[in-house]
Amino acid sequence: MYNKIGGTLIFDVKAAPAAPLMLAEAARILVGGGLVAFPTETVYGLGANALDAQAVQKIYLAKGRPSDNPLIVHIAEFAQLQELACEIPPAAEKLARHFWPGPLTLVLKKRAAVPDVVTGGLDSVAVRIPAHPVALALLRATGRPVAAPSANLAGRPSPTSAQHVIDDLAGRIDAVLDGGPCAVGVESTILDIRGGCPLLLRPGGVTPEQISFLLGKKCLSVAWQEDTAMPPPSPGLKYTHYAPQVPLYLVLAPPEKLLAEIACLQDKYRKQGKHVGLLLSKELAAELEADTVEILGSRDHAAELAANLYGALRRLDKSAAELIIAEGYSEAGLGLAVMNRLKKAAGPRVLVVE
Ligand code: TXA
Ligand code: MG
Repeated sequence: MYNKIGGTLIFDVKAAPAAPLMLAEAARILVGGGLVAFPTETVYGLGANALDAQAVQKIYLAKGRPSDNPLIVHIAEFAQLQELACEIPPAAEKLARHFWPGPLTLVLKKRAAVPDVVTGGLDSVAVRIPAHPVALALLRATGRPVAAPSANLAGRPSPTSAQHVIDDLAGRIDAVLDGGPCAVGVESTILDIRGGCPLLLRPGGVTPEQISFLLGKKCLSVAWQEDTAMPPPSPGLKYTHYAPQVPLYLVLAPPEKLLAEIACLQDKYRKQGKHVGLLLSKELAAELEADTVEILGSRDHAAELAANLYGALRRLDKSAAELIIAEGYSEAGLGLAVMNRLKKAAGPRVLVVE
């Protein structure tokens, strides 16, 4: 029924006939206080019973994650939200009814029942209903809210396939449900909706345009800077998420100048004898000859760019590239989430061409 790698059970739930048995076994592991990685429509999550503080503690150990960086709680039904949040403003209910199941996480005032280890000691809790059928089936079989960060080692790109989870966490967790690749490919949008005012904490699978349209008011964005004395509105903001093992240069330029700028930069480093990895749209990739190249998709389809981003970054990390040059995209729609992750990967190496 399953494979085992380094003590971690691998359940292939794509093989339909045995899937219900595998899901029942995975739910049993969660109820018993174990850790199970599962697919969502955004990225794979590493789940534990959210109401079991000891089980949740194991997530931080397995990932090597700082314990003050809180987790998102996953539920199967809207009704479960009442057990976790004590104030649900009408705007929150409207968003949940429209976007759930889906890639939107709502931050709300928490109930005492939610253990501090889940929320990093905050008085708020982040909740979503994921849209993946395997995630929903697991949550229903478990019958409890499940706390789940992305199922990667801290500092690595989020996993968008079961193999990515296995590469990072085999031997450190109890089981992985393999449901195939994740469709969205970047994490959920995190929205602080306490008091009914939408504050965007992390761009993701649901766009600010969609949120503003539904609520009939603009979404505010956080422009928190590392060097301010103020605590970040979301603890995750203060951690450098993924940073590639080699430097990544992100080139922001008007479309008509991008090709020449990237070619010039590539040439400069090649002349220094460096092996250059390129991270490009298919449009630019057709125009450039490269040592190593990863193609994300069409620059006019942000959904393609998002779906392929983390897999491409993982492959570049494993390649011979000594530096990466990445193309910048429009921040419209899902492009905002793609560019947010690329800017984090680049750190200070963002090159702006007017
Ligand atoms: O798509 C996703 O959101 C995936 C899948 C598995 O659902 N999960 C995910 O979790 O990306 P994670 O742990 O990698 O990112 C959660 C982020 C962190 O940056 C954390 O700081 C923030 O959510 N967060 C959690 N609870 C919060 C809260 N109460 N207030 C503000 N930010 C919170
Ligand atoms: Mg993460």
